Amino acid sequence: MNPDPSASVQRDSDGRLRHLITLEGMSRDEIVALLDLAQFYVREPGDLPARDQSLAGQTVANLFFEPSTRTRVSFELAAQRLGAEVVNLDMHSSSRVKGETVLDTIYTLQAMRADILVMRDAEPGLPAYVARFVAPHVSILNAGEAHLSHPTQGLLDALTVRQTKGDFTKLRVLIAGDISHSRVARSAWQVFKSLGVAELRIAAPADLMPNKNEFAGARRFENIDDAIRGADVVMALRIQRERIRGAQMPDETSYHRTFGINAQRLKLAAPGAIVMHPGPMNRDVEISSEVADGPQSVIQRQVANGVAVRMAVLATIARNVQARRHFQ
Ligand code: NCD
Repeated sequence: MNPDPSASVQRDSDGRLRHLITLEGMSRDEIVALLDLAQFYVREPGDLPARDQSLAGQTVANLFFEPSTRTRVSFELAAQRLGAEVVNLDMHSSSRVKGETVLDTIYTLQAMRADILVMRDAEPGLPAYVARFVAPHVSILNAGEAHLSHPTQGLLDALTVRQTKGDFTKLRVLIAGDISHSRVARSAWQVFKSLGVAELRIAAPADLMPNKNEFAGARRFENIDDAIRGADVVMALRIQRERIRGAQMPDETSYHRTFGINAQRLKLAAPGAIVMHPGPMNRDVEISSEVADGPQSVIQRQVANGVAVRMAVLATIARNVQARRHFQ
């Protein structure tokens, strides 16, 4: 397998994380350090959020070339709670539409002294490409890249599993749904692999199953009842309609019947199994409302953890860039 080129682009010459583009190539220790810092930022529901000044004086720009609500708001709150100034660029009505290249947009933001650029794009490759050209004080954070990578989602999923199920090495983790078009599945697989989960399963209808050369080591299922049996973690995924053309598109009602995570199927999972979903959910398609709102669902916890994880990533990247500046 070719090494993922993004994995080396994201490090400075001392090997420190300067950008976050992919979880591929990150060591277990590195991931655990990020999860520990994220846990430090977690508060009980109802308590005031954690705040500090790790990003005081810095500017974070959110550039979302694909629609997003929760991830953008999550990054925005994370940056504000670390004392940064935040700007949101609505890239649908902005410069790319007027024909400006993305690099020119980046140089403009850089000239205004933006320090961290959070990017989401429908095409593969943009974050790693841009990372090669930015000034030394600028970091790129990938907030969702095509079907390939969504590193902060992978980290928040890992944090949620660690909080609720503990030791990864004893867990059977199932990712179910539209695996082939899912960046959430790919980042989850990378992080769970590094953390050494006992068994990784992927379940998808044949049309939505990824290529054989991907998800090495994962057990593959085309039948959801077989896949869910004995699982400790069940992650349901949305059908990524925006990435599917024509014949592959499943009908929602029959998909729910043959593949949806419902209460009856959940009984086949291990006792105390948790149910996850990255959102946005299509209720009663990939997951029934009863399960989504039920006692085994940790979906709201994932959302809460999202802010803490993004604070941890922002603070870590800012610290690494600062450290480098002091040694130069
Ligand atoms: C996911 C995404 O955008 O990749 N959602 C998210 O980050 N909140 C999953 C999805 O869109 O299905």
